[in-house]
Parts: sequence; C-alpha cells; structure tokens
Amino acid sequence: MLSKLSEIKDRAEKILQEADSMEKLNELRVKTLGRKGEITVLLRTLKDLSPEIKAQMGQAANQFKMQLEEMINQKSEELKQEQLQQRLNAEKIDVTLPGMPFMRGSKHPLTRVSEEIRDVFIGMGFNVAEGPEIELDYYNFEALNMPRNHPARDMQDTFYINDDVVVRTHTSPVQVRTMEKMSPHLPIRIIVPGKVYRKDDDATHSPMFQQVEGLVLDERITLADLKGTLMNFAREIFEADLKVRFRPSYFPFTEPSAEMDISCVNCRGVGCRVCSHTGWLEILGAGMVNPRVLEYGGYDPEKVTGFAFGMGIERIAMLKYGINDLRLFFDNDRRFLQQF
Ligand code: PHE
Repeated sequence: MLSKLSEIKDRAEKILQEADSMEKLNELRVKTLGRKGEITVLLRTLKDLSPEIKAQMGQAANQFKMQLEEMINQKSEELKQEQLQQRLNAEKIDVTLPGMPFMRGSKHPLTRVSEEIRDVFIGMGFNVAEGPEIELDYYNFEALNMPRNHPARDMQDTFYINDDVVVRTHTSPVQVRTMEKMSPHLPIRIIVPGKVYRKDDDATHSPMFQQVEGLVLDERITLADLKGTLMNFAREIFEADLKVRFRPSYFPFTEPSAEMDISCVNCRGVGCRVCSHTGWLEILGAGMVNPRVLEYGGYDPEKVTGFAFGMGIERIAMLKYGINDLRLFFDNDRRFLQQF
C-alpha cells in the first residue's frame, strides 16, 4: 500500500513539474484527487485493513492528499502569473495610434433654423421672450381681439383643457403677456420661438409645430419699419437678392394686416411646382398691432404704435432645405437627420 502511495506521489510530482498549462494541472487534479482519482480510490480501500494499519496508512494518505492539493494550487498560481506576464509583454499600447472614431450627433434641422432666425433678429436688436404652451383662453384669443364666438377662432381650433385653458394655437399670446410685463416701458423688441398646437394633420400641417413671433412697440413705428425688418430677415435667411411682396390679409390682432411672400427660392420667381407656378411663396403673417391689443397690454394707442409678425419654423425649414413632407421632421429617421 505504501509503495502504491509513493508511486502515485512520484508520478504526480513529475507531472506537476512538467505541467505548463492549466489544462494539464486540471487533468492531474482529476486523476489523483477527483471522485474516481487514484488517491480517492486508495483511501476507499483502507476500510478493509486492520485498525492500526488503517490509522497509519490513512494518516499518510491524507497528508499526501493535502500536500498535493497545496502543490497544485501553488503551481496554478504560478501559471496564472506567467500567463499574465506574457499578455502584458504582448499587449504593448501604442499611444501614437489614431483614436477610435465616435459618432457625433447633429442639430435637428428645426433647431438649426430656429437658431438661425433668432440670430438674425438678435442682430437687429431683438430680445428673446418665451411663454407657456398651456395658455389661458384670455391670452390666446380674448386679449388678441378674438372674443368667444369670433369666427377667426375657427381657423385655430385646438385642444381645450377646460373652458378657459387651451394648448396655445400660436405664439401671439406672448405679445400681450410681454406688454403687461413691460408697460409702460418702451421700446419693446422681442421674438418668441415656441411650440404651438392645432387641430391639423397632413403633409404640410402637424398638430404640433413651431412658430416664431415678433413684436416691436415704440412711438412712431410705421408699416415701413415692418417691411424693412421683414425683408432684411428674409434676405438673411434665404438669399441676398430675394424679392418680397406684401398682400393684404386679416388677423383680428393687427390692423392693417398682411401676408409676406418671398420670390420662390426654387425657381427664383419663374414658376415651378414648389410655388404652384406663381413664382411666390407665402412665409409669414404680419401687421400693425391693433389698438385694442395695445389697450389690453396696457399701452396708450394714441401714443404707441407697433408691428407684429408670426411664422412657422417648419415651413421656413422646408423651403430652405427643399423638404416636401413635414412629417419627416418628426420621424426621427437617422437617414434624414444625418443630412443636416
Ligand atoms: N398668430 C398668427 C398665426 O398664427 C400669425 C401672426 C402673428 C399674424 C402676428 C400677425 C401678427 O396665424
């Protein structure tokens, strides 16, 4: 029995010495210490021996078993260290290699256009104001000279939160909010970018869209100021040699009111599909602030005049980039967004 033990011992030690991989170590572990391993089997045969020999042999075998376990663990540690060292030697980091490229996002076309419009007006001395998207009926309609049952409310049907609260249909309510806040201070020169909501949904209308409002109040502001300001704006956003024209229109909160057209940016006024063969594109509504609205805002219409305008940012962006379906802005398709 002893000789059997020392035989196992010799063989194990030899394997241990030569072992150069984890696989070989594991093989040895299974072969000697495993459930059917040599030492395990040997220990099992002890039960047939006489008590003294059993004690003696058992001790020797157990001792060797522990020793072997210890040796295998030690060797395994050594191998691990060796492997780590090898990897460290092999994987030298070259800091002069070019870096990994990473994907960079870009601004949404609507954000881009909105910022451009802002910059143009800031350059003309305007400040940026904001107002709530959930708005009182009073500011959205009433104070803009659109009392309940006024037919002009029809074109701006919207979502009602209750009888007195709507999601705003335009950025115009910020006109009166700003007047209330600023009165009697002059001048006022603001633009108001923001989201608005209407009961509309097709290729050129979305139930949510963005507008930029403008308001200028001072003594002796005239229609000429309106025309000059808006023409300059259009030429900065589109082309320097662009033509503009003003057509009479109607808004309850301006008097007189106008719509501004620009010469078609696609055909330069010759006539094409984009401008329905008219040579012109409508881009905004405007007018001189109605005296009633000035009164609501706390200004004296005898002393103060002003003009206001409002435009849809999606429409400006569609014309600027030649986009024919408004819904592309909201699909979040990267193939579309990556082009900007
Ligand atoms: N609020 C108007 C609209 O949404 C646009 C407008 C603003 C017209 C200011 C005149 C003056 O249709």
